[in-house]
Amino acid sequence: MSELQIVDLHVNVNDREILKGVNLTVRQGEVHALMGPNGTGKSTLAYTLMGHPNYEVTQGEVWFKGQNILELEADQRAHLGLFLAFQYPVAIPGVSVANFLRAAINARRKIENPEDKGIPIPEFRKQLKKVMDSLRMDHTFASRYLNDGFSGGEKKRAEVLQMAMLRPEIAIMDETDSGLDIDALRIVAEGVNTLRGPDLGVLVITHYQRILNYIKPDFVHIMLDGRIVESGGADLALHLEEHGYDWLKNKAEVMVR
Ligand SMILES: Nc1ncnc2c1ncn2[C@@H]1O[C@H](COP(=O)(O)OP(=O)(O)OP(=O)(O)O)[C@@H](O)[C@H]1O
Ligand SMILES: [Mg+2]
Repeated sequence: MSELQIVDLHVNVNDREILKGVNLTVRQGEVHALMGPNGTGKSTLAYTLMGHPNYEVTQGEVWFKGQNILELEADQRAHLGLFLAFQYPVAIPGVSVANFLRAAINARRKIENPEDKGIPIPEFRKQLKKVMDSLRMDHTFASRYLNDGFSGGEKKRAEVLQMAMLRPEIAIMDETDSGLDIDALRIVAEGVNTLRGPDLGVLVITHYQRILNYIKPDFVHIMLDGRIVESGGADLALHLEEHGYDWLKNKAEVMVR
């Protein structure tokens, strides 16, 4: 059973400390939600886990499959089975969705078996169609350039498509719900729920209880000022919805002292 274990993680951005000691473990089979006010470091955590060069780790470790992944390049982390759905996915003009997915799948297969010749194209096409149908995506998407001119909702759906095709062991979804209309939200959530199971661990970063009605988390964590100050079950998100974050601020101050 794989787990992603974040230990005392401190991260600077432009010489300012943003993450101030994050501890969090996400195991395969568990769904965790990470919530917290704007600018508290949630996306910083996601980018750091994926190895974005702007995020400088000054202290701490992140363990996955027996390795401190902070020592690995971003693509090596992905090949190991970590997946990040971005808050603002970038467009890759010139690379179609299908080609991008096939290259990514083949890169992972090669890690598992250096002799692998890549996924046979008919098998790939069949899988892609099946997943696109389940996400109610038009098949023409497969030949469009990745995220190029995609609407906000289409980008989010494309992220879930990638997740479904790549079958990561741990997925981090940064605000995959923002900008989705109610139907798209349901489709994306259903997509995640279909993938949910003993082989997948998910960290859902969100501001809203709404998506958690569809993707019921096993654990909810609240980040304030670069630290996780409270953890609980699904009811913690409901409590937040009702009471906001103020009741936690004292707690955060105590932790600083
Ligand atoms: N590349 C960067 N350059 C400068 N500051 C940055 C950079 N990335 C993050 N920060 C700063 O780090 C802090 C945390 O940002 P982060 O995006 O992690 O917050 P967040 O919790 O994801 O917020 P939101 O809920 O609004 O998405 C913010 O003050 C932000 O301005
Ligand atoms: Mg963010």
